[in-house]
Amino acid sequence: MINVKDLVKIYEGQVTVHALKGVSFKIEQGEFVTIMGPSGSGKSTLLHQLALLDKPTSGQILLDDIDVSKLSEHEKTAYRLKNLGYVFQEYALIPELNAIENTYLPLMLLGARRKEYTRASTELLEKVGLGNRVHHLISQLSGGEQQRVAIARALVNKSKTLFADEPCANLDTENKGIVLRLLRQLCNELGQTILMVTHELEQREFSDRVIWLRDGIIEKEEIISKEVRDSALREEYQVI
Ligand SMILES: Nc1ncnc2c1ncn2[C@@H]1O[C@H](COP(=O)(O)OP(=O)(O)O)[C@@H](O)[C@H]1O
Ligand SMILES: [Mg+2]
Repeated sequence: MINVKDLVKIYEGQVTVHALKGVSFKIEQGEFVTIMGPSGSGKSTLLHQLALLDKPTSGQILLDDIDVSKLSEHEKTAYRLKNLGYVFQEYALIPELNAIENTYLPLMLLGARRKEYTRASTELLEKVGLGNRVHHLISQLSGGEQQRVAIARALVNKSKTLFADEPCANLDTENKGIVLRLLRQLCNELGQTILMVTHELEQREFSDRVIWLRDGIIEKEEIISKEVRDSALREEYQVI
């Protein structure tokens, strides 16, 4: 469960930016929530705070009733590795490693056996349509292919919670459909909590609920009906 209370993030610099101006919401385990809003509305900032990649200026974040501000840096890193998956908007892949090595890294760091992490990573790369790119270096992959490696890496440790920052931004229609259906399937089968950022209207139809951000505050919330979700999940549905 994610419980956010009055979250504020101010970036201090030459210009002070009030990126989050007091955001509060709750997300239950197993919910798939989309964060929508125009560019600059604070979507990535919000995800960074929730995934313990940055420190909020004020406010509280509870992850499964743990007040994360009380964790040391070392505890945060351990918590992230074990419980959180993250698809970065800019991928953040390691260029010296190939697709499968990038994918299995979190599982390897968690101490899984080679056989186990190799199998899990191969399966995921196949699921995102990269079965024939497993041993390609990151520099040998297109933007869309790199994005799918980043998605596979975020999914490999079957974390309780997955954060995905515009995970379909560089994908074509077919791959958008594959990725969004995969996220929905993981949410249903593993009970994974998913927070996906997007600014493309149609993509929210795969989720349960939408939080709309504007200028660092929640503008409105929207519930997606089962009919809309089921219709989006049909194979024929084209996510443009
Ligand atoms: N590291 C940073 N330092 C200063 N300002 C930042 C930083 N990151 C984001 N911002 C600013 O905070 C606001 C929200 O940014 P961001 O969360 O990236 O928006 P979104 O993901 O919705 O496009 C923007 O005005 C952006 O310029
Ligand atoms: Mg962003």
